[in-house]
Amino acid sequence: MTRWLVAGASGMLGTDLVAALASRGEAVTGLDRAGLDVTDAASVTDAITRHRPDVVVNCAAWTAVDDAETSEEQALAVNAGGAATVAAGCAAAGARMVQISTDYVFAGEDPGRFGGDAGRPYAEDDIPAPRTAYGRTKLAGERAVLDWLPGSGYVVRTAWLYGAHGGNFVRTMIKLEDQRPAVDVVDDQHGQPTWTADVAGQIIALVHAAAPPGIYHATSSEQTTWFGLAREIFGLLGADPARVRPVPSSTLSRPAPRPAYSVLGHGAWARLGVPPIGEWRTRLHRAFPELLAAQRADVAGAQTG
Ligand SMILES: NC(=O)c1ccc[n+]([C@@H]2O[C@H](COP(=O)([O-])OP(=O)(O)OC[C@H]3O[C@@H](n4cnc5c(N)ncnc54)[C@H](OP(=O)(O)O)[C@@H]3O)[C@@H](O)[C@H]2O)c1
Repeated sequence: MTRWLVAGASGMLGTDLVAALASRGEAVTGLDRAGLDVTDAASVTDAITRHRPDVVVNCAAWTAVDDAETSEEQALAVNAGGAATVAAGCAAAGARMVQISTDYVFAGEDPGRFGGDAGRPYAEDDIPAPRTAYGRTKLAGERAVLDWLPGSGYVVRTAWLYGAHGGNFVRTMIKLEDQRPAVDVVDDQHGQPTWTADVAGQIIALVHAAAPPGIYHATSSEQTTWFGLAREIFGLLGADPARVRPVPSSTLSRPAPRPAYSVLGHGAWARLGVPPIGEWRTRLHRAFPELLAAQRADVAGAQTG
């Protein structure tokens, strides 16, 4: 049986990955930052020696995209230094490693062709060109893992994540629908809303397929905008989707520029013979009851607590 070790196990993706592995009867240990600090070589070595994993999945990351603009060194220490430290530990122990990465490694520019700077979804081997500090630090993490583990390292890029166990756009829209008569949402950023439980499923399939090392894109199929996603969420809540109003990104000023085009291609799954995650709308409908329940439980907890 494959022994799994998950770093960053209390994050949004880490929580769903540990749950998915446990529900499939896999041997899994999930460690939060207190149990495995990826920036601390002794902590990494200790965890790997103690749990003797066959596979380590690094879900730990500095994910505050805007804060990274002013704290790039700290973000780099986690996203690149941490990834390298885990990879070195895996190399020493003979374990495989899955490093989670992001669409932000690409420029994400939409030159008006509705197909990004590449003119089509980004392929796994397209040349990265991050435009944010967060993207630069995540790209450095990817490169460290592939350098340390040329025969046993995987980079799984994902994007536009939502899940029951963390703050995210879907949960924010559920909250705002309850609180506001109307919401303004940007309609000029294109991407693939993706459920953390689906990313977990792809990671497990990748490892069980004994896939060739390299880069894989774990996002839903098809694409939409944040505006399109918000309208779908309002529809799922039985609310009038017209209460979601489209606005351009220029109305929001944020420290880190957001990609206009974040659509990732899925060619590596096809070559591997593993089905990609399904269409974003179908997967959102499947995930929605769990997210709604989590959001309502938080609201009830806040009212009673
Ligand atoms: N969310 C998205 O939309 C999105 C999109 C593309 C890619 N990704 C990538 O997906 C992965 C998972 O993201 P997520 O959304 O699940 O993020 P998350 O909820 O912020 O989880 C990240 C986890 O990493 C932990 N962590 C931070 N520094 C650490 C350290 N030094 N050692 C060990 N753990 C540490 C955090 O612990 P604390 O709570 O203690 O800080 C947190 O539990 C990340 O690699 C992220 O870059 C996310």
